[in-house]
Amino acid sequence: MRLRTISSMAVLLCLLAVACGAQQPKALRPPDVIFVPTPQEVVQGMLKLADVQKGDVVYDLGCGDGRIVVAAAKDFGARGVGIDINPERIAESVANAKAAGVTGAVTFRNEDLFEADIKEASVVTLYLLPSLNLKLRPKLWSELKPGTRVVSQSFDMGDWQPEKEVEIGGHTVYLWKVPARADAKK
Ligand SMILES: C[S@@+](CC[C@H](N)C(=O)[O-])C[C@H]1O[C@@H](n2cnc3c(N)ncnc32)[C@H](O)[C@@H]1O
Repeated sequence: MRLRTISSMAVLLCLLAVACGAQQPKALRPPDVIFVPTPQEVVQGMLKLADVQKGDVVYDLGCGDGRIVVAAAKDFGARGVGIDINPERIAESVANAKAAGVTGAVTFRNEDLFEADIKEASVVTLYLLPSLNLKLRPKLWSELKPGTRVVSQSFDMGDWQPEKEVEIGGHTVYLWKVPARADAKK
């Protein structure tokens, strides 16, 4: 009898362990680029260049500690979504959103930005690498609504000419608008 109780408890504990394991963040592949935060002055400049307004949905692809998404919500009244492949960055982003009092306006997702669903964005912010911008370009053109603003810190998009290019605190920031499907280059 006692043996049966012990085995039932063991089974229960195993089930519990499996259930808890399912709650752990997924082991994603290593980041394509390390975390280097955008200076706050440049964050503000990027969001101004994109003319972020209340009603916008700002996606930061590779959000780091969430600073761009938090600023979009706190200083511009927008809704924000941050995506990062590194679960530590997501935990920092959530903590920063809490500290800034904007948890209701932001979401952070531990995902690979190349696999993420980004179609609801009206503004996309990037601070990646030139090669990653180029790899991402077809996804931006095919999944985002025409007219969606894309802002990149430091890195351009090859032969996709920006609408604007400004210098902020020694950093170049680029702005594009996603073209209508028929106009999109391959
Ligand atoms: C240069 S940091 C930029 C952080 C933030 N956007 C900023 O401007 O302060 C790049 C971030 O992209 C993340 N990252 C790299 N590869 C990624 C991928 N494939 N999917 C999602 N995030 C990625 C890194 O973990 C890092 O936090």
